[in-house]
Amino acid sequence: MLAVSVPKAVGERARLLITRFGALDKYHRIIAREDEIEIPILRELADHEIILIKEMGGTIRQLSEEIDRDTFYDPMKDILANLDMPDDHIGKIPQRWEFMGNVLVIKLDDSIVKYGKHIAQVYARILNVKTVLWDTGGITGEFREPVHEILFGQDTVTTHLENGIRYNFDAARLMFSSGNVDERIRMASMCEDDETVVDMFAGIGYFTLPMAFHTSPSRVLAYEKNPLSFEYLVKNVELNGVGDVVEPYLSDCQLAEEGIADRVVMGYVGTTHEFLTKAMRILKPEGGIIHYHETCPNALADKRPRARVMEAASAEGRMVKNIQQRLIKSYSPGVGHLVLDIEI
Ligand SMILES: C[S@@+](CC[C@H](N)C(=O)[O-])C[C@H]1O[C@@H](n2cnc3c(N)ncnc32)[C@H](O)[C@@H]1O
Repeated sequence: MLAVSVPKAVGERARLLITRFGALDKYHRIIAREDEIEIPILRELADHEIILIKEMGGTIRQLSEEIDRDTFYDPMKDILANLDMPDDHIGKIPQRWEFMGNVLVIKLDDSIVKYGKHIAQVYARILNVKTVLWDTGGITGEFREPVHEILFGQDTVTTHLENGIRYNFDAARLMFSSGNVDERIRMASMCEDDETVVDMFAGIGYFTLPMAFHTSPSRVLAYEKNPLSFEYLVKNVELNGVGDVVEPYLSDCQLAEEGIADRVVMGYVGTTHEFLTKAMRILKPEGGIIHYHETCPNALADKRPRARVMEAASAEGRMVKNIQQRLIKSYSPGVGHLVLDIEI
């Protein structure tokens, strides 16, 4: 039987990650050894999953012993044991959370807001993070900024490791969507050698960094309009050693250089379609690929994104050769976050 073996310190994070893969074997016990824990898994892991496990210092191995599980380590048990709250409220405590490096983000049911600080203190200790943020209002505005309040700790600047990339940012002021992990990993294998790439909405480097780090483009021009995101983008370019390839621009992407790109990344949601004309113009005259993101009601997913692309292309005298569409994640009830790979 297969297991993921990881250092004890990252055991809980590894368990959550494997659960998110849908690969956790709940029928066998997690085995704690001296320095490591072995987490049983149901299947062989995919390549991109293995990359994430290796980043935690983990390996995949045959289980040396198999113990049927009557109990398994569940941090909720320790959390519950340490919370001092009335029984009628305890059922409302967060069962899910997001790690952004060593910062934790939780949501709170209205009925338990008054226990927020106590809850955060316990979660911080059991889940081993320095700061706990309360997601009070999701992600808003042109700059896609989170609305978070600090419940525990002070330092909200964190470094999140994913797919070999270090993303340094202020988790209280800038977003990092865990739901986009597959897309960030996919973009890490997209570029052909020596391509010129334009990332129109670079943020802290969500797509720019994996492309520059894992593939061999000759240039990645990264446009970002928010000065704070830009500051971290510049830092992250340095941190990941891709300064020879990435050119960060603190600018509206509507001002981006035209006629230069083999590939254009449009990793933005909400009003992205308003930038399609510009994306077509950024491509070289002979064409290239556009990765166009759109949040779209499920009922319109078959038609609206394609129709918008076709309209912009035809207005620019561009020929669309091929479109591949995929769902990145559910964005909100009844609305999907889609990406279209458009060959022009
Ligand atoms: C936050 S990212 C989206 C990240 C990515 N899709 C994800 O979910 O992980 C989008 C970025 O585009 C930036 N942005 C918005 N409008 C822009 C514009 N016109 N030109 C350049 N950057 C822009 C925002 O400031 C933001 O940092």
